[in-house]
Amino acid sequence: MTTELTIRRPDDWHLHLRDGAMLEGVIGDTSRHFARAIIMPNLVPPVVTTADASAYRDRILAALPKGDRFEPLMTLYLTEQTNPDDVEAGFKSGLIRAVKLYPAGATTNSHGGVRDMDKAMPVLERMAKIGLTLCVHGEVTTPEVDIFDREAVFIETVLDPLRQRLPELRVTMEHVTTKNGIDYIKASKANLAGSITTHHLIINRNAILVGGIKPHYYCLPVAKREEHRLALRAAATSGDRRFFLGTDSAPHVDPLKECACGCAGIYTSINTMSCLAHVFEQDGALDALEAFASLNGPAWYGLPANEETIRLVKRAEPVSFPARIETGAGPVTVFDPMFPLHWDVA
Ligand code: NCD
Ligand code: ZN
Repeated sequence: MTTELTIRRPDDWHLHLRDGAMLEGVIGDTSRHFARAIIMPNLVPPVVTTADASAYRDRILAALPKGDRFEPLMTLYLTEQTNPDDVEAGFKSGLIRAVKLYPAGATTNSHGGVRDMDKAMPVLERMAKIGLTLCVHGEVTTPEVDIFDREAVFIETVLDPLRQRLPELRVTMEHVTTKNGIDYIKASKANLAGSITTHHLIINRNAILVGGIKPHYYCLPVAKREEHRLALRAAATSGDRRFFLGTDSAPHVDPLKECACGCAGIYTSINTMSCLAHVFEQDGALDALEAFASLNGPAWYGLPANEETIRLVKRAEPVSFPARIETGAGPVTVFDPMFPLHWDVA
């Protein structure tokens, strides 16, 4: 039985760090294990210009615990007014690594997102030309579409038409939650990859709804049926270069989750590596963990893998994580995988 594993230092290809006191409270949980992360731009107000991203990057670096080395990879929040020249300048300067498409109303702080894809075409065409990646929150927001079908309908009605129109555009389908998404990525020939979260590898929709409503398992895209979770597991553990880790760790203070209209988002930064080692071991795929967490993401984004390594050790006794962390903004509940975690980052 394997009880130790050394892998290249991982990266997180989809992370919400927030700002201010919350940023200060959570960033250490990421920088402890991860070398880099793609930083989501859905602040209030969102990060829409290269200047916004540059200022946000400075705030992130200022909040880093002393001695930690961590590189925030910045993104822009796509709006119908986004200026293609600003995007190109940000990309060419090395600051901007991706542009994020939130369909308007799809998730937390997405009201300023895109309503009419035609209005975003000038930016998307420029991105296709210069090789800048579009990260998509792949859900339609049409009220008629059932929330559990929103990803599948997005692929058919938005993503596939967009990719046919602009085959050169590099697209990351973020936080894939369905077999439909996995199959769509696998069937693609080029310019498409997908990130998978920690929690979607572990929970299905029962976690949210059985035995009482469990707000700390609610996120968007919402967890789906078991067959979908199994498809995500198979893709993540396969080593296929098109799939990589994006935790979508999304902290909200407990009062905003434990209420009549709770926010979407699950906080996993602190225990992701322990959860992933458990999942990969359970599927007999520990040897594929490095590809998923440390190699496939950088390859897709055209960056070198990290030179440093981390050592995972399986302990006889369960490793304990706090049930919640205290931040200057308030308490944030930590993702509970509902099984004991024995893998620890040494
Ligand atoms: C994210 C957040 O809270 O910002 N929430 C979530 O459930 N994942 C937004 C997002 O990525 O959809
Ligand atoms: Zn997210």
